[in-house]
Amino acid sequence: MQVVTRIAELRAGLEPLRRASRSIGFVPTMGYLHRGHEALVRAAREECDVVVVSVFVNPLQFAPNEDFESYPRDSERDRAILSAAGTDFLFQPDVAEIYPRQLLTEVAVPELSHTLEGGTRPTHFQGVATVVLKLFHIVWPDKAYFGQKDGQQVAVVRRLCQDLDLPLELRVVPTVREPDGLALSSRNVYLSPEQREAAPSLYLALEKGREAALAGMEGSAVQAEIERRIAEEPLARLDYAAVVDPDTMQPKADLTGRVMLAAAAYFGKTRLIDNLIVDL
Ligand code: PAF
Repeated sequence: MQVVTRIAELRAGLEPLRRASRSIGFVPTMGYLHRGHEALVRAAREECDVVVVSVFVNPLQFAPNEDFESYPRDSERDRAILSAAGTDFLFQPDVAEIYPRQLLTEVAVPELSHTLEGGTRPTHFQGVATVVLKLFHIVWPDKAYFGQKDGQQVAVVRRLCQDLDLPLELRVVPTVREPDGLALSSRNVYLSPEQREAAPSLYLALEKGREAALAGMEGSAVQAEIERRIAEEPLARLDYAAVVDPDTMQPKADLTGRVMLAAAAYFGKTRLIDNLIVDL
């Protein structure tokens, strides 16, 4: 595995491979890797000739009151995981490499960014869309891999690719879960033992929502069921529950076709998100 910190160096390494028609798979991450990230790298390894993974904690997608400074980082462990998973290039730039000057250009997909996560984190997806487009321009992948765990991020990036005619295929990999259902997240490390025990309630509430949707309930009733189930867990504080179209993020009343059930809740200070896609 080649570890690269400079954009020019990465481009120079990829150029001959691209000219030789080798397909490039790209997995953008913020590091502190877990089995969810490994599943993305595995998928890229299976489908592409060359695998590029970025590890970059993007300050632009954190609000001033959020956990940018304390976001968990473990570079050595990340390198060992990525090397074992068959990564060819690890791109690990510092903030000055990605943002060398004041950014006057930003990328936004407002329609998809102001509900759900965007309700609580209004500037988050603009930061995500901006860095993802920059990373795509740096790597020029044939395929890019994202986890379904961040379902709204998937919708934002998909629309960005469509609207700006980016010549790459977006691959979405299913959420990886602990045996008790908790979705893997780098932020799970913040949970106390009691909060960790309570945290699967988020997934279990979504499962109850799925049952209600399959039983024919309307969107608002399914949402109420998810909210009620989360409220039953004393250590959980509901942020939102929603029943939406997975592409537009608009609420769905009449549940037919593909539906995304999404929820976010605080366990202490840690905010966890999860979602399920249901085909009706
Ligand atoms: O999902 C993430 O880890 C981040 O939002 C991403 C896509 C790497 C952009 O910083």
